[in-house]
Amino acid sequence: MLSFLLLTVCAARAYAALFESPTSELLNTTYDFIIIGAGAGGAVMANRLTEDAGTKVLLIEAGGSDFMNQNISAPGLSSTLTHSKFDWNFTTTPQVGLNNRTVAYPRGFVLGGSTATNQMIFCRGTKDDWNRFANVSGDDGWSWENLIPFIFKVDNMTAPTDGHNTTGQFNPTIHNTSGVVDISVPGVSLAIDSRGLNASQELSQEFPFNLDYNSGDTIGFSWTQSTIHNGRRVTSATSYLTQAFNRSNLDILVNTRVTKLVPVGNYSGKPDMRGVQFAQSANGTVYTMQAAKEVILSAGSVKSPHILMLSGIGDASHLALFNITSLVDLPVIGTNLQDHVFLGNPWTVNANFTLDDVHRNATLAAEQLALWQANGTGFFGLPPTNQFNWLRTNSSVFSSLNTTDPSAGPTSANFELIISDNFASKRVALPATGRFVSMVTNVISPTSRGNISLASADPFDAPLVNPNLLGTDVDVAIMRSAIQAARNFMAAPAWADYIISEFGAFGEAQTDDELDAYIHDQSDTVDHPIGTIPMGTDGALEANLTLKGTVGLRVVDASAFPFIPSGHTQGPTYILAERAASLVRATLSN
Ligand SMILES: Cc1cc2nc3c(=O)[nH]c(=O)nc-3n(C[C@H](O)[C@H](O)[C@H](O)COP(=O)(O)OP(=O)(O)OC[C@H]3O[C@@H](n4cnc5c(N)ncnc54)[C@H](O)[C@@H]3O)c2cc1C
Ligand SMILES: *[C@@H]1O[C@H](CO)[C@@H](O)[C@H](O)[C@H]1NC(C)=O
Ligand SMILES: *[C@@H]1O[C@H](CO)[C@@H](O)[C@H](O)[C@H]1NC(C)=O
Ligand SMILES: *[C@@H]1O[C@H](CO)[C@@H](O)[C@H](O)[C@H]1NC(C)=O
Ligand SMILES: *[C@@H]1O[C@H](CO)[C@@H](O)[C@H](O)[C@H]1NC(C)=O
Ligand SMILES: *[C@@H]1O[C@H](CO)[C@@H](O)[C@H](O)[C@H]1NC(C)=O
Ligand SMILES: *[C@@H]1O[C@H](CO)[C@@H](O)[C@H](O)[C@H]1NC(C)=O
Ligand SMILES: *[C@@H]1O[C@H](CO)[C@@H](O)[C@H](O)[C@H]1NC(C)=O
Ligand SMILES: *[C@@H]1O[C@H](CO)[C@@H](O)[C@H](O)[C@H]1NC(C)=O
Ligand SMILES: *[C@@H]1O[C@H](CO)[C@@H](O)[C@H](O)[C@H]1NC(C)=O
Ligand SMILES: *[C@@H]1O[C@H](CO)[C@@H](O)[C@H](O)[C@H]1NC(C)=O
Ligand SMILES: *[C@@H]1O[C@H](CO)[C@@H](O)[C@H](O)[C@H]1NC(C)=O
Ligand SMILES: *[C@@H]1O[C@H](CO)[C@@H](O)[C@H](O)[C@H]1NC(C)=O
Repeated sequence: MLSFLLLTVCAARAYAALFESPTSELLNTTYDFIIIGAGAGGAVMANRLTEDAGTKVLLIEAGGSDFMNQNISAPGLSSTLTHSKFDWNFTTTPQVGLNNRTVAYPRGFVLGGSTATNQMIFCRGTKDDWNRFANVSGDDGWSWENLIPFIFKVDNMTAPTDGHNTTGQFNPTIHNTSGVVDISVPGVSLAIDSRGLNASQELSQEFPFNLDYNSGDTIGFSWTQSTIHNGRRVTSATSYLTQAFNRSNLDILVNTRVTKLVPVGNYSGKPDMRGVQFAQSANGTVYTMQAAKEVILSAGSVKSPHILMLSGIGDASHLALFNITSLVDLPVIGTNLQDHVFLGNPWTVNANFTLDDVHRNATLAAEQLALWQANGTGFFGLPPTNQFNWLRTNSSVFSSLNTTDPSAGPTSANFELIISDNFASKRVALPATGRFVSMVTNVISPTSRGNISLASADPFDAPLVNPNLLGTDVDVAIMRSAIQAARNFMAAPAWADYIISEFGAFGEAQTDDELDAYIHDQSDTVDHPIGTIPMGTDGALEANLTLKGTVGLRVVDASAFPFIPSGHTQGPTYILAERAASLVRATLSN
């Protein structure tokens, strides 16, 4: 891929240029748009804005350009990415809902951003999710119905790696085969797949089969769809950026962090935020450039609010603690952080083989990796799960807590059950012996709200990250209902000769009190932070994603969601950015 990028200065180049440092050529160029961050949001913007040959774009990425690294490309190596050179290495503050534990908070640090380091599950969100965004923003353009053209721009449904007949695994009539991001159903079948399918048939009342959870209604049992093609991970860099590599109007600057935005003037009393400062190291030269049209902030839910605060945009009293002069007092910036909660629940099983064998047996792993290198087949090309359930908590749980269902509506789940062919836990290491099946229970409609705040005024210091996981009794109750559902699913006849017993602390957690203690002790994050610069009448962004109280600045990434989508968040971010690009381009043709 990188061979498409010109590394040297060339008078009439036909390709996008990759800059490892800000050369005089770059510094001397006038860019219409400066995009900050090359993750899901930023890559879509870089691609769509450079479709107009007359529009010159600079994309600045803090991480490097090594997005074809094997550890990124091989889905089965994704566990190596946390705390690697592709990770920002954030850690949360002590989480009250996790007995004051701190947990790792990975975010991608490379072209592709977190799409290069995530678990590849592809969700669009639901009708109710998007219709709620439309309500909150007062813009019907964000409704499910009106977003379908943008959903299709993202979607490229491809054949699974093993080429099997996919009838009954998704609904082809609601997918596109000419969008930008390749997705597929699982490319290797697992022995447990038929048991999972049978369990959903046996208990169809509670776990109804849903042919396609990306129809706008997620509820039920489904085959997963992942950003995997021919066994290889598909990222915003392999898709959106690669597609734009043959355009000379795109320049990409890597290894460079934007440190703050600076006003370049005033317009109707609002600061014009088209100035961008960046540096390559903590004490390195600080450069300043100005976008001719707009700055697009796409640094993700942790770094986008951080950059705004460093620029004087946020809660003025918080910024004052760090002697940062307030430019726009917007207290909502950094608050409203929402995330999904993760908990792995393992059962020991009666099996001759599970993926635990690949994780324990180095010889087997080497054989499988060689197979993957040959043609993308084998276990290293698999997504983390072949099947999952998206389900709703019984409304009596909410009424007993004197509250109402926090989800966006009936098409949105309160929790998710991921079926995993191995020992799945972020808390306990793989035991030396035994084979496992796990149900990962995730809280999908959390009521907890966390925040991003400053630890210092140094842009190279990490901000404080407090997702407030399990910060409310409601969220704990949703997790309890998820565990109950997981136990019900595994009690289906289909699993009877397979399951031996619940393992470890999970098995010991039976009463509500024991469950609560277990939940607080073992839960973690699903790595889906959103909402730190929310759109909406009470939010920080206008419906067109411009930042209130400023001109020349839009935020296009997962921070813009006012509520967390009831699905994994890369798909919704791609979709949001597709519409954002269309909104920006509409202003250009005026
Ligand atoms: C471990 C993990 C697992 C996940 N699993 C899934 C999954 O299975 N399915 C799913 O749908 N979603 C998953 N997600 C979430 C999904 O990847 C994100 O929601 C999505 O990538 C968000 O897109 P974004 O554009 O907001 O931010 P990102 O994709 O994170 O992109 C932000 C980019 O901005 C860059 N940046 C930040 N600060 C600066 C700066 N100062 N200057 C320049 N550049 C900067 C970053 O380096 C990064 O490249 C997972 C995420 C992680 C980390
Ligand atoms: C920038 O461009 C100007 C005018 O074209 C030129 O005089 C100057 O040498 C250039 N500066 C650099 C650092 O390339
Ligand atoms: C994250 O940690 C890894 C391993 O220590 C390191 O190589 C990498 O540079 C760190 N990332 C950042 C952004 O500092
Ligand atoms: C967590 O920390 C808070 C504040 O320091 C304290 O009140 C609480 O008792 C602690 N909880 C646990 C389980 O240790
Ligand atoms: C969509 O996938 C097909 C393979 O199924 C591929 O040939 C095509 O190039 C992809 N489209 C894009 C835009 O990447
Ligand atoms: C796939 O399976 C379905 C249902 O079993 C069948 O109708 C269809 O013909 C098969 N397709 C191919 C290409 O074999
Ligand atoms: C940057 O400068 C500060 C203060 O002068 C110093 O403490 C720090 O070590 C330097 N950092 C780097 C990365 O050089
Ligand atoms: C802010 O400025 C005051 C006055 O100059 C100084 O005393 C204080 O230490 C500064 N605070 C920080 C966090 O830098
Ligand atoms: C394990 O393998 C043996 C021998 O092939 C077979 O008889 C047995 O049924 C297998 N057990 C399971 C649980 O698959
Ligand atoms: C490890 O895998 C190899 C290769 O598949 C196999 O021959 C060997 O028996 C396995 N070892 C164990 C302990 O299962
Ligand atoms: C993939 O490569 C392996 C090893 O070379 C070979 O056995 C297998 O048939 C290949 N599969 C496909 C689908 O090409
Ligand atoms: C719910 O409200 C009722 C009536 O106001 C009250 O008696 C009860 O204690 C409340 N329950 C909870 C869990 O707050
Ligand atoms: C964005 O929307 C706001 C509120 O409707 C409007 O004032 C502003 O002009 C719009 N900005 C752009 C660039 O379209």
